[in-house]
Amino acid sequence: MGSIGIMTCGGDCPGLNAAIRGAVYRASERHTTVVGFQYGFEGLYQDRSIPLDRENTWDILNRGGSILGCSGENPFRGDDAAADAAVATFKRHKLDALIVIGGNSSMGTALSAEERGIPVVGIPKTIDNDVEGTDVTIGFDTAVATAAEAIDRLRTTAESHSRVMIVETMGRDFGWIAVAAGIAGGADIVLTPEEPVDVSAVGKTIRSRQDRGKEFTIIVIGEGATFKGKAVQYGSHRPGEGYMHLSGVGAALADRLEALEPGRWKLTVSVIGHLQRGGPPSATDRILASRFGARAVDEALDGGHGNMVAVRDGRITVTPLREVAGKLKAVDAGLLRDAHTFTSTTG
Ligand code: F6P
Repeated sequence: MGSIGIMTCGGDCPGLNAAIRGAVYRASERHTTVVGFQYGFEGLYQDRSIPLDRENTWDILNRGGSILGCSGENPFRGDDAAADAAVATFKRHKLDALIVIGGNSSMGTALSAEERGIPVVGIPKTIDNDVEGTDVTIGFDTAVATAAEAIDRLRTTAESHSRVMIVETMGRDFGWIAVAAGIAGGADIVLTPEEPVDVSAVGKTIRSRQDRGKEFTIIVIGEGATFKGKAVQYGSHRPGEGYMHLSGVGAALADRLEALEPGRWKLTVSVIGHLQRGGPPSATDRILASRFGARAVDEALDGGHGNMVAVRDGRITVTPLREVAGKLKAVDAGLLRDAHTFTSTTG
């Protein structure tokens, strides 16, 4: 009888529990036990785990978040004691492989674990959809649906009050959510980190809509966007955390539009933030996550470690972790092209 470990790393997203359940169900079919490590790699080097089986996972398919908890901890980043402790825990549990559900940086940590002798299979998740080597990640579909619904709701109030409504979506490095939700929600302008924002061009588009009798405008802006001539992202640092929490580019855009034409527009900003990460996964995410979980177990048991499960052209497949780690996936050129048709993506 085999045994595998599983963990959820980085930020949460809808569909993590479906992936855990998918892995447990396939493992049970293959007479393999599953150990869930709590709070990502932290649970591995601190040896905090819970046994997982069909009885404690059957009802988690549609639940948001992760029953294991999430963290972006990386024990292989220079601290040998933590790395050794992680390897020791893996051996102590007599595991055959470890399934790491995570985003970009967690796939890098997964590769480090593999290089330290822990056989790893990755499962890509993030609402940002920017993991290299897969067409889609767990959580993206749900986040886009949530953002699109927010745009629908904001549109009716923007229309009733002739407002210029700025909707700030998540998406740290690339504009996958902004572009997809912008198309789905019928946004008038979509601004993303891919292209620095030209505020005077945005103003021109709003004016030209007004000239055509459209008193309201919906602008979707990805949180990671920057302004032309000033490549600075908006957000805040918190003590003890090594990265910036992004937020504020929508408000900065409102300030710049106000400065462009003082008093002309009723500017309103909505930051939809973590609403995009919470709540139950969409049906598409439930199916994707369940299938990723099952395939990851097959790879773990059949010698496919060192890989990340992936979707390519609609089929579940694998990509080597070394081709994924340290890379980000920019918004697909075809999607951007189509977004130009439906919205003014450059303002
Ligand atoms: O990577 C997913 C994501 O939701 C990004 O879109 C966002 O910038 C980040 O995580 C937010 O994480 P935190 O809550 O730690 O700031």
